Amino acid sequence: MQSRLVTMEEGKDPTNNSIRTNQSRVLPLRLLRFMVFLLGVGIVLSIISVRMNRSLGIRNIVPGTQPCFQEPMSLQNLIKPPLNYQHTMNDSELFWRASIVPQIKEYPFKRLPKIAFMFLTRGPLPLSPLWEKFFEGNEGLYSIYVHSLPSYRPNFSTSSVFYGRQIPGQMVEWGRMSMCDAERRLLANVLLDISNEWFVLLSEACIPLHNFSIVYRYISRSRFSFMGAFDEPGPYGRGRYNSNMLPEVDITQWRKGSQWFETNRNLAVDIVKDTKFYPKFEQFCRPACYVDEHYFPTMLTIQSPNLLANRSLTYVDWSRGGAHPATFGKNDITKNFFKKILEDQTCIYNNQPTSVCFLFARKFAPSALEALLQHSSEFFGF
Ligand SMILES: *[C@@H]1O[C@H](CO)[C@@H](O)[C@H](O)[C@H]1NC(C)=O
Ligand SMILES: *[C@@H]1O[C@H](CO)[C@@H](O)[C@H](O)[C@H]1NC(C)=O
Ligand SMILES: *[C@@H]1O[C@H](CO)[C@@H](O)[C@H](O)[C@H]1NC(C)=O
Ligand SMILES: *[C@@H]1O[C@H](CO)[C@@H](O)[C@H](O)[C@H]1NC(C)=O
Repeated sequence: MQSRLVTMEEGKDPTNNSIRTNQSRVLPLRLLRFMVFLLGVGIVLSIISVRMNRSLGIRNIVPGTQPCFQEPMSLQNLIKPPLNYQHTMNDSELFWRASIVPQIKEYPFKRLPKIAFMFLTRGPLPLSPLWEKFFEGNEGLYSIYVHSLPSYRPNFSTSSVFYGRQIPGQMVEWGRMSMCDAERRLLANVLLDISNEWFVLLSEACIPLHNFSIVYRYISRSRFSFMGAFDEPGPYGRGRYNSNMLPEVDITQWRKGSQWFETNRNLAVDIVKDTKFYPKFEQFCRPACYVDEHYFPTMLTIQSPNLLANRSLTYVDWSRGGAHPATFGKNDITKNFFKKILEDQTCIYNNQPTSVCFLFARKFAPSALEALLQHSSEFFGF
């Protein structure tokens, strides 16, 4: 009965053998046809749906799936410098992110260490044309960061080295903790780029005293960081110490130094990550204790005295007296003036005496710009 039924249905030769062989040939042939048909329908449908998606602008119909063009994680992506200095991190978030430090000392890629020039300003940078000239031709060896008051809107042209180099800034009050906050904010932003190795703090009134090659060599070959730090007896030094800072700071550890420092990457991390000294200085060093002259020099003297040169790279003239150093204008810009700064001193560099003590100088008024530009090659070699 079975064979008959099959025979009737298939309409083929009624012997069992032939039924079997016929069945096994016919079935795949039908299946194949059906599958080719399905494939055809599938192709047509997918072409239609792709066209429709394009014309409707739909890219990702299934929620939560990744777009297929996303790059896999790569070292290049993790280490590339941020293109945009703007970010939405507040200080706690930024400092935490900046304090992430690799534990393997050797870099698995070619790293050209850069000097980061950090400009702490109120608003405009009137001496920027001189700096532009200084930086010219040294791309890849430096980076620039500017912290100005939040209300200030810079308008550098797109060809300027200062264009887009502003970090999110906050209010700063002279001689108060907000000044150190701004400096730490600068350091933290600079740390986000792994290629930044040396960090120089400058103001809008600073100028370079040598060409870039000399500055780069001096800083990169120094075994010490140029943080001014000295123990000064009298009312403006030890007189500003408050014994409430014990036990973190005792009076023999109390240091004073110029705000305009240079540190390497490791010390920059130490400053950004500090939670031990910060509250003491915040609470017990208020005017007439000017915290920006004491916090970093004292803290680093306690933590890493052997890494400090104990002097600043920035020349400043306090000889006229008062709370602020001398400001130099158009009429001060003479060969003799810079000869005095550049040659008439000695200091220690890598344990050897040298006459090159300063790489930068302040304070210069905007009126000095023209004369500085005119004589920069004669005075400074750029
Ligand atoms: C930053 O934001 C986090 C999360 O909103 C908050 O917990 C923290 O206190 C903020 N820090 C500062 C300094 O505002
Ligand atoms: C910036 O703005 C000032 C006026 O607000 C203008 O005099 C100056 O030319 C502008 N600079 C640039 C580079 O656009
Ligand atoms: C800087 O001063 C500290 C003590 O405050 C000292 O240990 C260190 O050797 C000094 N650095 C240099 C380069 O002399
Ligand atoms: C930089 O200045 C030094 C000394 O003044 C000079 O020998 C050197 O050629 C200058 N370098 C450049 C690139 O101008």
